[in-house]
Amino acid sequence: MDLAQLTRDLEDLRSEALAQAAAAPDTTAVEALEIELLGKKGRLTGVLRGIGGLPAEDRPRVGAIANAVREAIEAALRERGAALRGGELEARLRRERLDVTTPGRPLRRGSLHPSIEAMADIARIFAQFGFVVVESPEVEDDLKNFQMLNIPPDHPARDLWDTLYVDQPGNLLRTHTSPGQIRVMQSMAPPIRVLLPGRCYRYEAVDASHGFEFFQVEGLMVDEGTTLADLKGLLDQFAHAMFGAGRKTRFRPGYYPFTEPSVAFDVECLVCGGPGCPACGRTGWMTILGAGMVHPVVLQYGGLDPERYQGFAFGMGPERISMLKHGITDLRLFMDNDLRFLEQFR
Ligand code: PHE
Repeated sequence: MDLAQLTRDLEDLRSEALAQAAAAPDTTAVEALEIELLGKKGRLTGVLRGIGGLPAEDRPRVGAIANAVREAIEAALRERGAALRGGELEARLRRERLDVTTPGRPLRRGSLHPSIEAMADIARIFAQFGFVVVESPEVEDDLKNFQMLNIPPDHPARDLWDTLYVDQPGNLLRTHTSPGQIRVMQSMAPPIRVLLPGRCYRYEAVDASHGFEFFQVEGLMVDEGTTLADLKGLLDQFAHAMFGAGRKTRFRPGYYPFTEPSVAFDVECLVCGGPGCPACGRTGWMTILGAGMVHPVVLQYGGLDPERYQGFAFGMGPERISMLKHGITDLRLFMDNDLRFLEQFR
């Protein structure tokens, strides 16, 4: 190996390397070239291996040339890398361009189930009269669902509430929210003003007006000197808030073992407004709830002295309220979960 040869090899490497650098298609290629040309096992190192065969006095000259070649290659790679990175950034910015004026995609909004909506309406109206919402269990015992509501075992009134039982003896799925009355009276001191909304179950053949599963909202007020007139006034206010201020209402005698006297509460037919139509059975009235003065026996089971306290209670079906309000004619729609039905309540 002589000096001239080595110098030529270095010059060849320089021009070849500069051409390669200039042609590198992307930054990854630039990095690969750097290793290939200047790395520990790279081509420059390969050429310089020949330096050992030179006379000692020639070595510094070759070293100087080699340094210049290295620097030239490094500069070329750096320059190409920077150019490519600039282009890549520009391309990325173009690709990821964001149009902040594009209208947003609409969110799919859910809606309240009509039973829930009706219960929320009921709770909102009664809240104005100081009624608070309390929850009570769906699995009840026979005592609170029946006996403490003045319905002893084998009492014929049990036929009003066909019952679904659970495995543990003495327990059942509540047939109405009225057992909540007992729980509230046993745990709160008068004055009591509560609403008890919740799911109820009955062993019932399903048709357009009967379900085995439905909601009820129970109301209970207990205080000293509470009268039937208070009940009537409150229910009038409720009916007007729910169905319109001009609606006529009426009390009819009714029967429940746990209230005495018991009443049914009607509003003027929402469809015909009085004269009678198929929707109201040609009576001109629609029954929206049952109610009455809490039976003294029930107050006693609730731990309250009937000589001191009086109360009233009422129970209504939010599905029924919703049916009257929206002109829905089949109760089964409420439990079918058919979106075509549910999406109408927005
Ligand atoms: N619990 C009764 C029913 O399910 C309704 C009701 C509640 C009646 C409270 C009077 C008082 O039919």
